[in-house]
Amino acid sequence: MKKKSIPSILAMKADGRRITVLTSYDYPLTRIMDGCGVDIILVGDSVGVVVAGHATTLPVTMEEMIYHTRSVVRAAPLALVVADLPFLSYQVSQEEARRNAGRLVKEGGAEAVKLEGGINCAATIRAITLMDIPVMGHIGLTPQSIHRMGGYKVQGRGDEQARRLLADARAVEEAGAFALVLEGIPTPLAGEITAAAGIPTIGIGAGPCCDGQVLVIHDILGLCEKYSPKFVKKYVDLRPIITDAVNRYLDEVRSGEFPTEEHSFR
Ligand code: KIV
Repeated sequence: MKKKSIPSILAMKADGRRITVLTSYDYPLTRIMDGCGVDIILVGDSVGVVVAGHATTLPVTMEEMIYHTRSVVRAAPLALVVADLPFLSYQVSQEEARRNAGRLVKEGGAEAVKLEGGINCAATIRAITLMDIPVMGHIGLTPQSIHRMGGYKVQGRGDEQARRLLADARAVEEAGAFALVLEGIPTPLAGEITAAAGIPTIGIGAGPCCDGQVLVIHDILGLCEKYSPKFVKKYVDLRPIITDAVNRYLDEVRSGEFPTEEHSFR
């Protein structure tokens, strides 16, 4: 299998091949998904929610993103690794945005960065791409804007909102992004944006018309304890399996059944 790159991802849209994307934050799960041949691994700031247990992605820091990106990069010789710019790492000034994007590449080893926003972030996307750092855009339900949206709600319903998202998509592409995440938007609008875009769209809760799909790895493995959104498909329910393994270990240690000779030294 060949290493995935920005040109090979762009070629997938041109050839009509669907792009597979999963989030990852650590070495062991990344080894598995890289071995399976996933095209892009996103070190998402969702790490703050699914790994660190925060209620939102807002507390995630640059240091945390760099740490997780390094772990993922060491485990992914084949996939393209994209890392999220966390809240407050790119909104204050273009200088900070450029420095933080550079840190994810230089210190984390990412091959591209992702940031949330449309027209309001176009100049920032342009500034980062001018440093030859590829940028993935992200519009629609953008979790860093939770307080403005008043919750995790579908975006782009109604003509005015739809027009705004189409304009956002155009602005992100014109600013030089190589791909665009469409999150939590109605299927027909995602289809319209995808048809108009020259860059691949990656959907999450945006229906089947996108050029690719992304999901959070903890969601597809059934590792999230709390509510899971309608767009998530749980491919396996690991919580009861892990619970059973932990309970058996606890029972065997308490009863003296573990360790046996087999797990001991002479
Ligand atoms: O942070 C994240 O994991 C994301 C994806 C869900 C698109 O932004």
